[in-house]
Amino acid sequence: MPIRPASSFNKQSTAEEVTEGVSLAGKTIVITGCNSGLGLESARVLSMRGAFIVGTGRTREKAAAALADLGPNPGSGSDAKSAAVACELSEPDSVRAAVASIHGLNRPLDVIMCNAGIMALPERQVKYGIELQFLTNHVGHFIFANGLLDLLNDDGRVVVLSSGAHRRAPDEGITFDDMDASRDYQPWQRYGQTKLANILYARSLHQRLGESGKVAGSLHPGVIKTNLGRYDQASVDALFEQMDPSNVKTIPQGAATQCLLAAHPVGAEAGGRYYQDCQVGSPTEVSQDDALAQRLWDWTEDFVGGL
Ligand SMILES: NC(=O)c1ccc[n+]([C@@H]2O[C@H](COP(=O)([O-])OP(=O)(O)OC[C@H]3O[C@@H](n4cnc5c(N)ncnc54)[C@H](OP(=O)(O)O)[C@@H]3O)[C@@H](O)[C@H]2O)c1
Repeated sequence: MPIRPASSFNKQSTAEEVTEGVSLAGKTIVITGCNSGLGLESARVLSMRGAFIVGTGRTREKAAAALADLGPNPGSGSDAKSAAVACELSEPDSVRAAVASIHGLNRPLDVIMCNAGIMALPERQVKYGIELQFLTNHVGHFIFANGLLDLLNDDGRVVVLSSGAHRRAPDEGITFDDMDASRDYQPWQRYGQTKLANILYARSLHQRLGESGKVAGSLHPGVIKTNLGRYDQASVDALFEQMDPSNVKTIPQGAATQCLLAAHPVGAEAGGRYYQDCQVGSPTEVSQDDALAQRLWDWTEDFVGGL
């Protein structure tokens, strides 16, 4: 079956459709949050196309249980189809241990998919002196992906899950003077800020990768009913009630854009870009601000160095 042209995909395309004809035999793909929602579907489909999946979960058991459900993976040429790794993104030691475990697998990496996330915690939570969504969604992935870059193949890809909710970030982008949200805590705005940070991180990382052939890009998967709403299920259910059902994706459709960037040839062009509905999207102006991206990188590096 031939690989379908990327121009033919849209918001209804599924992860299976966008990877049709793609062989990932011999490739290794790391996915954070492989046990639920979009991460689980990405693991299933990318495994089906032949990739060896390194899946992380908050505990190794959670990841292993999810990966045990993967379908046959005849293209890998090995009995093992996946490896399960514990990675609690809000615990720097756990993230660093995950990075060390993945180094121990002795496998070059083709894709690092920063997928895991939490959304709109109703009450302000602070850990290591900063707001928990920011620690989990941005800082944890910063430590994780940066720690794995030396394993990334020359044509490797870093795929970062952002969200259309990056539009909910404050006007200035990142509230560097209120990282613990003690001055102001608004659950959705704080989530938006983390998703803005995901775009800025991918943008900065791509610039740092330079002409190496490695790329880093970000994406909005769409609006999908997953476990993401669990922290404020009533508000999330109300949002879904108000939405035009044609704008709500199924999980297979929701996982399409990240699988496209991970597996389809067009993913090689994704560097520094933001995708949605399987096409290049239009993120906010502030998310394209290279000075802000640099400031965020510097802030995160300093913060991580002090942990
Ligand atoms: N669903 C949507 O409509 C939507 C829209 C835009 C963007 N996104 C983005 O898509 C990504 C995937 O979300 P999803 O919808 O698939 O949500 P999901 O079903 O809730 O899956 C999230 C995954 O992240 C893991 N995770 C959460 N906190 C973690 C932590 N501290 N350490 C390690 N892993 C952690 C979860 O593990 P546990 O199961 O153990 O909690 C789970 O595996 C997120 O980055 C989200 O921001 C989703």
